Amino acid sequence: MQVGIFCPIGNNGWLISKNSPQYKPTFELNKEIVLSAEKYGFDFALSMIKLRGFGGETEFWDYNLESFTLMSGLAAVTSKIKIFATSATLVMPPAIVARMATTLDSISNGRFGLNVVTGWQRPEYSQMGMWPGDAFFGKRYEYLAEYVHVLKDLWRTGASDFKGEFFQMDDCHVKPTPSKELSIICAGQSDAGLAFSAKYATYNFVFGKGLNTPTAFAPINERLKQQTDKTGRHVETLALFMVIAAPSNEEAMEKWVKYNEGADLEAIAWLQDQGSKDKTSGSDTNIKHMASSVSPVNINMGTLVGSFEKVAAMLDEISHIKGTAGILLTFDDFIQGVNDFGEKIQPLMKSRIHIDSPVLSQVKDITEDVTV
Ligand SMILES: Cc1cc2nc3c(=O)[nH]c(=O)nc-3n(C[C@H](O)[C@H](O)[C@H](O)COP(=O)(O)O)c2cc1C
Repeated sequence: MQVGIFCPIGNNGWLISKNSPQYKPTFELNKEIVLSAEKYGFDFALSMIKLRGFGGETEFWDYNLESFTLMSGLAAVTSKIKIFATSATLVMPPAIVARMATTLDSISNGRFGLNVVTGWQRPEYSQMGMWPGDAFFGKRYEYLAEYVHVLKDLWRTGASDFKGEFFQMDDCHVKPTPSKELSIICAGQSDAGLAFSAKYATYNFVFGKGLNTPTAFAPINERLKQQTDKTGRHVETLALFMVIAAPSNEEAMEKWVKYNEGADLEAIAWLQDQGSKDKTSGSDTNIKHMASSVSPVNINMGTLVGSFEKVAAMLDEISHIKGTAGILLTFDDFIQGVNDFGEKIQPLMKSRIHIDSPVLSQVKDITEDVTV
């Protein structure tokens, strides 16, 4: 099973709480986290793009770095881990992003892939006069399909003359082309989003669900399978979870309770309000459900809380869900969290026994000594 790190590109990571670690995003912080992740054999690092925060006392996500430029810096200081940046496709034309991606492919020596998002929060775009109107909610994956069509034209042939509803290329040239076909990832949860991934993506990010219910997201894999049955392509999911671990279950649960007690209600109210703005999509998009979310303090993200042993066992459970290629992790405290994952959780995971990390090699050596 692959493991990825969701870089904290915005302040305070993914906890909308006054009681969780408070920090601003910097290159140095992300560098420390991603170098540590690479050391422990993480497979990939991803950053999102967020152009407007939720405010409140914690000024949640009011501070965000930019995804491509952050990942370029990280690509230059790493050597093995795969690097994914996110394109805010509404405001970043495909011919520019094709060139940026080729540049990152060169910097990373073939380790780069692209996450494409349609955008779901109107003020991110309306604040700069670039929201196309609310009808866009209903057409966002048609838009994304044309966008990726142009990208693929440019990457494969160095040129595009595509004429569509949203994009009209006019003998557009982008050279050099990347060293190989770049992976596209999409994070759609709706039927339209999953249909898009079935047609164009290598992986689809999905939201893990609930508290200590690692397999609860399985139905979305089945929904993706229904779509790939139509396209005949092989596309698997990468499931997003937050890990809050400690030596004992009690200590881990204490942290989770404390974060919930400090929930920044004003920032959460903004999130819930924005989540309710899309009146066009069906009930299949998870964004709408943020308004009735079970654990809004971490954006209703699937959350694994417990001792290192318990978290390792829950992560192994995820690896058994058909159609899952891997997990994408966030932590309450990223530096401590990645370190604990590498030192104390991963060595207990059967689904990660193949990893060539310093700690696992020691574990393997000891096991070999014992058998001899
Ligand atoms: C791992 C992950 C990363 C995401 N990154 C972004 C992002 O960078 N920017 C953004 O606006 N939305 C992001 N989203 C939201 C998705 O793009 C998508 O809008 C959401 O999952 C709802 O799916 P739907 O559009 O099919 O309804 C992300 C979601 C996940 C699970």
